[in-house]
Formats: sequence, structure tokens, C-alpha cells
Amino acid sequence: MNPLENRYTRLVGIDHPIVQEGLGPFRTPKLAAAVSNAGGLGTVSMPGFPDDLADGAKLLREHLEECASLTDRHFAVNIPVGVDGTGEILGFTDVYIRAVIEARKAEPELEKRITVMTTSAGFFGPYGRMIQDAGMIHQHKVGSTRQAVKAAEAGADVVIAAGFEMGGHAPSKAVHTYVLVPSITDAVDIPVLLTGGARNAKGLAAALAMGADGVAMGTRFITTHDNSDWHPAYLQALLDAEEGDDVAFNGVYGPCRGLRNEASQHLLAESCDLGEAGRMNPVEQIQWKIDRMQAAQTDGDVEGGLVLTGQVAAEIQSLVSVAEFVPQMAQEAADILSSLAARYAGVSQPA
Ligand SMILES: Cc1cc2nc3c(=O)[nH]c(=O)nc-3n(C[C@H](O)[C@H](O)[C@H](O)COP(=O)(O)O)c2cc1C
Repeated sequence: MNPLENRYTRLVGIDHPIVQEGLGPFRTPKLAAAVSNAGGLGTVSMPGFPDDLADGAKLLREHLEECASLTDRHFAVNIPVGVDGTGEILGFTDVYIRAVIEARKAEPELEKRITVMTTSAGFFGPYGRMIQDAGMIHQHKVGSTRQAVKAAEAGADVVIAAGFEMGGHAPSKAVHTYVLVPSITDAVDIPVLLTGGARNAKGLAAALAMGADGVAMGTRFITTHDNSDWHPAYLQALLDAEEGDDVAFNGVYGPCRGLRNEASQHLLAESCDLGEAGRMNPVEQIQWKIDRMQAAQTDGDVEGGLVLTGQVAAEIQSLVSVAEFVPQMAQEAADILSSLAARYAGVSQPA
């Protein structure tokens, strides 16, 4: 049963309007496959920026192949569009988008499975057309209504409305989902997903009530039994987090949300005190941040590493299994919407 089938689920060919969004620079092939197998849409994430981008492209291809070997359903891939200080698109974006297109051309199994590409961070420019011409659905993550309209006008198939409470790189305008999502769903006609702060059926029902077509989650999916590629200490740090334990610091593309700890203290946007990282040049700073993110995820260094998470971690107390969680979340959201409709039916009718 697909109780929340809608234009988005039909467009991307999934059962439930529930997406596991990109979680780079980390490994997510197993998690993505688990989410797609459960009837949602899983996403393979950007693998990081090694000195030699050919190594990064090779790793990305391995992740795509691993995911395809674990599911016979559709999945997505996320490539951020990084831009430098002058607005130039960074080299990794081009290399990685082309690597996905090449991989799909070379392997019919990948072509069947990788049906969606999500761009994020900066504006996608010519890459939107390139993604669609290659036969993929193009989703773009935005942090403002203006960016949503620009993406829709430039031909994106779906926009993902990213609120400031989200984990990882957050919008520089710092607008939260409750304000942003209804504004974007009024402004564009294409499907809209909410990202940031959703963790359960209540969040999904609320997103649908605000005119969105589904939710794209990060933190809830990190804290699952299926995310076995990440160090257990990372998952435990998120389960232990309480309200107020997160902070937005200077990330790679702008503000970035993670746990308040020794590493994020160096990068606090409020104080503009870059500490140890501040004594490095911009390229070294980016590498330091990526290294610190990967130290948390692969080595479990949750004090010296950057532990990216959304505010919603404070409300998550235990790991769940994706196979049960995804269909249950959809069913419960449908039940909430039906019970609200029943409760308020007739309220506006004359007596
Ligand atoms: C650890 C982590 C890494 C992330 N990496 C990326 C990324 O590479 N690209 C991207 O577009 N968003 C990234 N995000 C944002 C997520 O895709 C998603 O939009 C966000 O987690 C939603 O907020 P939530 O955590 O409250 O569900 C990341 C988030 C986290 C927590």
C-alpha cells in the first residue's frame, strides 16, 4: 500500500515520498540502497575532494556500483555545485557530474538505477540541462524562495526547500522550514520536498500540509541500524545530543550545522575566530574541514572531528531499521492527515 502516492512519487518511481538526502563527504551506498529498498529514495553522496579528482571520481563510481548491487530500485546521487570566491564553479562538480553520466552510459544496470541527480550548494547553471539530457530527473536544493523560482525557471524538475535547522551545509539566509516551505510551494509549480528538521510522520504530514510533496531527511537516516559504514561513536553522539547542543559554524560552502565541540569551536561563525583553521590559507582551511568531517565519520573522533547533524538529533533517542521505518512513517502520516480531516470536517460548514 502506498498511502501517500503523489506527483513526486510517480515522477521518480518510488512508493513513499521519503528521501534520504546526500550526506557527503561520507559513504552512503548501503544506506541509500536500504532506503530505496524500503520504498523511499536513497541517495549516494559526494565522496570528498582528494587532491587528484580522478581518485574521487573512481570512488564515486565504486559507491554507485555498490549501491546498485544492493537494490533493484531507483536511487539518486548528490553532487554539490561548489563555487569559489569569484563565483566560478569548482572543478570537482564538473568531474563528478561527468563521472556519473559516464558510469550510466557504460553500465546499463547503473543507467536503470540512477534515475535522479540532486545538485546543491550553488546554482547549477548548464549542469541542469546536462543532467536531463543524460536521462536523469534533476532535483536542486535551495535555501530561499528566490533561488527556488530561479531553479524552476531554469528547468529543474524538483526543488528541495532547505531550512536552517538542517544538518550539514545550511542556507546563508538562515530561513527555517516553517517559513520557507509554504513560501516556495506558493511560488513554484514543480514538486517541492522539505529538508531540515523532519524525523517522523508528524513532520511528513506537516510538510504535505504546507504544500510540499515529501520530505528529504539526513539526520534521521544517519541514526539507523542500516548506516553501518559510519563509526558507531558518530551515531551515538547524535543520539546523546540534547536541544542546544548544535551550532552553525563556517563550513565549506557557507554556514554548516554540527555538534558544538572542540572542532566546531574553531570555526564558530558568531565570533569569526577561525582559531587553528584561521592560520591556514583558504585551500588548507577547506581541506582541514573535510579532514575533520571524515575523522568524525570514519575514526569516531567526535571531539576533534566535525560532527555534522541537524537540530533534530536532539529529538532522536534510538536507532531504527529503515525497512520498517519508511513504510511506517508514510502510513502514520496518512493516518494523521485522515484523522485531522475527520476532526475538522464540517467545522466550516454552516450549522
Ligand atoms: C552529515 C551530513 C552531511 C551532509 N552532506 C551533504 C552533502 O554532501 N550535500 C548536500 O546537499 N547536503 C548535505 N547535507 C544535508 C542533507 O542532505 C539534508 O538536507 C539535511 O540533513 C536535512 O536536515 P536534517 O538533518 O534535519 O534531516 C548533509 C547533512 C549531514 C547531517
